[in-house]
Amino acid sequence: MTKTPIIIDCDPGQDDAVMLMMAFAKRDQLDILGICTVAGNVSIDKTTRNARIICEICGQTDIPVYAGYAAPLKRRLFTADEVHGEEGMNGVKVYEPEMPVQEKHAVNFIVDILREKEDGEVTLIVTGPMTNIAAAFSQAPGIKKKVKEIILMGGALRMGGNVTPSAEFNIFVDPEAAHIVYKSGVKTVTIGLDVTHQVLASNARLARIKAIGNKVADTACEILGPYSFFDSEKYGTDGGPLHDPCTIAYLLDPSLFKTKFCNIEVECNSELTVGHTAVDFWEGMDPKERPKNTHWAYEVDDKGVYRLLEECLATFS
Ligand code: BDR
Ligand code: CA
Repeated sequence: MTKTPIIIDCDPGQDDAVMLMMAFAKRDQLDILGICTVAGNVSIDKTTRNARIICEICGQTDIPVYAGYAAPLKRRLFTADEVHGEEGMNGVKVYEPEMPVQEKHAVNFIVDILREKEDGEVTLIVTGPMTNIAAAFSQAPGIKKKVKEIILMGGALRMGGNVTPSAEFNIFVDPEAAHIVYKSGVKTVTIGLDVTHQVLASNARLARIKAIGNKVADTACEILGPYSFFDSEKYGTDGGPLHDPCTIAYLLDPSLFKTKFCNIEVECNSELTVGHTAVDFWEGMDPKERPKNTHWAYEVDDKGVYRLLEECLATFS
């Protein structure tokens, strides 16, 4: 089977960590060219360390990890340590990993590797602020045609925001980067809060993951327990939303999601609604002024996503 070449750009982050586990489980299908980190949930030092810790826990130290931007393109970094913990990975005992960080900057890695590839060959999985991707596209516009699609976690339409009333975290942190990516002409699939809030890490689901009985599944449980607790309290649900793993679920089985090709615009100016994603779901805008630029996920088979997650975690037994 030909493997799908992917680059993962993330800010681990508890749900990013589970996303990485899912991708690692399917290396028979996925050729993971590299993991890029960005500042987001916590500082770049911590996201880069956490990515390597997850690689070590999962026995995947052959995948190169590249550190990227330490701050958004034009703004000061806003973090989510109240959700993910001071170290960004509540539930895991953090330590300094043995696995090295690559010397190359993540943006240079993205530019260089895409230059080597064929047109439309590489899929980008993006689960943090889109700073690295926007910087790479601005630095070397020629690489855009090498990207098959960007599957990203970000944005909100019906659900409302999770940082401000109207903005989702990844877009809020670097709206200018998101704007560049959505204007790039590259195909994007946007998995926002409208669907991730349907994929709840309920107690029953965590118990099933625990029952798998291997080290990686146990770690996923230890991460998702406290993570889920924070959001369950906040939203009054049985379990918190499983955001980032939905990107890998989509990559592995797009039939788990329903998407609609729409226009999306990112608010970069308003103080009140900065980071808001204006999704023209009902196609009310003039398509000449606001052409369709994303496949917006609006429905998800949440049971199917958990079945896939369990299947992935079981491969580590
Ligand atoms: C997104 O924000 C981060 O805190 C999570 O890792 C996820 O990528 C959800 O809004
Ligand atoms: Ca994330």
